[in-house]
Amino acid sequence: MTQWLKNAIFYEIYPQSFMDANDDGIGDLQGIISKLDYIRELGCNAIWINPCFDSPFMDAGYDVADYYKIAPRYGTNEDARQLFDEAHKRGMHVLLDLVPGHTSHLHPWFLESMKAERNEYTDRYVWTDDIWNAPEGFATLRGISDRDGCAVTNFFSTQPALNYGFYHITEKWQQSPEDEGPRKTLEEVIHIIRFWLEMGCDGFRVDMAGSLVKNDPDSLGTIALWQKVRAFLDREFPDAAFVSEWGEPDKSLMGGFHMDFLLHFGPSHYNDLFRCEHPYFARDGKGVVSDFVKKYVENYTKTDGRGLICIPSGNHDMNRLSFQLDEEERKLAFAFLLSMPGAPFLYYGDEIGMNYLKDLKSLEGGYSRTGSRTPMQWDNSQPNAGFSRAEASKLYLPQDPREDRPAVSTELQREDSLLNEIRKLIGIRQSHIALQNEGAIRFVDTGREYPLAYVRSAGEERILAVINPSETEVSVKLPEEAVRCLYAYDGKEVTWDGDEAAVPGVSAGFYLLK
Ligand code: GLC
Ligand code: CA
Repeated sequence: MTQWLKNAIFYEIYPQSFMDANDDGIGDLQGIISKLDYIRELGCNAIWINPCFDSPFMDAGYDVADYYKIAPRYGTNEDARQLFDEAHKRGMHVLLDLVPGHTSHLHPWFLESMKAERNEYTDRYVWTDDIWNAPEGFATLRGISDRDGCAVTNFFSTQPALNYGFYHITEKWQQSPEDEGPRKTLEEVIHIIRFWLEMGCDGFRVDMAGSLVKNDPDSLGTIALWQKVRAFLDREFPDAAFVSEWGEPDKSLMGGFHMDFLLHFGPSHYNDLFRCEHPYFARDGKGVVSDFVKKYVENYTKTDGRGLICIPSGNHDMNRLSFQLDEEERKLAFAFLLSMPGAPFLYYGDEIGMNYLKDLKSLEGGYSRTGSRTPMQWDNSQPNAGFSRAEASKLYLPQDPREDRPAVSTELQREDSLLNEIRKLIGIRQSHIALQNEGAIRFVDTGREYPLAYVRSAGEERILAVINPSETEVSVKLPEEAVRCLYAYDGKEVTWDGDEAAVPGVSAGFYLLK
């Protein structure tokens, strides 16, 4: 494992909403540079920045029009280089966001591929050979080109799918991953990766990483493709780190990703924790964690230390953590997030409990996701909470209008704030190897949903985590008595009587074992 990943803690930055350095109302790379110290002081030593490449922004930048150029609204390639340097000076690492599955429909490659005459880009995208015959099981763009055929799309209609071939070929227009078109597409992706890694970037978060090869039900084609990318990385950039938006670690880590996310979609039961009718971390104690644990253990066993399973606090695609959980519940959620294996990912603003703004008008293809993408709140004594000095009407998105909205400045001062709890939790994680990214985990069967208990271990060190989000005190069997308490939320410690342990309601604790 790449050395720096062993204790990396990531902070996800949605660039348009983080910090605006030139007062045009939109966040930018210089803004990010100006806040690196804040992120470092929070305890995060790595960042992931959502796509910041040239784009018409029909999907907030996940519709790339030039993979080799920073979008002018965020700055220049020179700013990116400076950002990498400034991060490295602080011992931090930077991941960019790679969108290999599709481009914008306005990307010059796609415009070329729409032409009737064969050219270099004819096979860059997935096209059928007959406009009148829409393919089953695929969304397409039709009637937009001189070329006869339908272009397969991936997500929105403005995102035509790049061609990596089909694992099972069922139609004559489908190509094999080994054909020239798909091979050229992959070559270009590797070229893009090399371009940014050479500039000083430390790796990528990879968008929709599991869906590149089509008709690939067991993902074998896509896994094989990523293994080629990994081989290239091992040769040329052994310190680079790749994290996949895939949600199935048993597949992605086999494909050579260093890390995979558990997500709000897919089989992981991640939503059971924070986002469902009865989230596990809600105080009412009606949640279910056992399905999550079962799936986690299955993945953990299958991947057998091959890479990291990463659990994010949220991201730009889902409701914020604060949508269903109050501050105290979120503190326990972070006690969990920051004591699990894998690299933790904090979504910007979650550390201060930013709100999900429910009724915002959609912007740049955000729709229901828009409410999780509003400008960061730095300091309520300044205009626009210190995000920008532009007129409020010019901001990328309106800010949380509540008078008592949280801001970094006030949360830092408030001793018992979530922000300060997170800083404390990160401090504990980083001073105990068992709690860090590669420390092993064994769940303790307490015979019930509450509490959640697990032992983390590395070398000689073993630490028991016991988390009881429900408000009811419970008595359970825990394997052994602790030697020392390392952390107890609100001072509420587990008390042992032989192997019977009383676990207070609304508590989270880490205990050093013999
Ligand atoms: C991923 C991104 C999401 C984007 C989609 C299409 O899920 O996280 O924001 O809209 O892919 O690229
Ligand atoms: Ca700006």
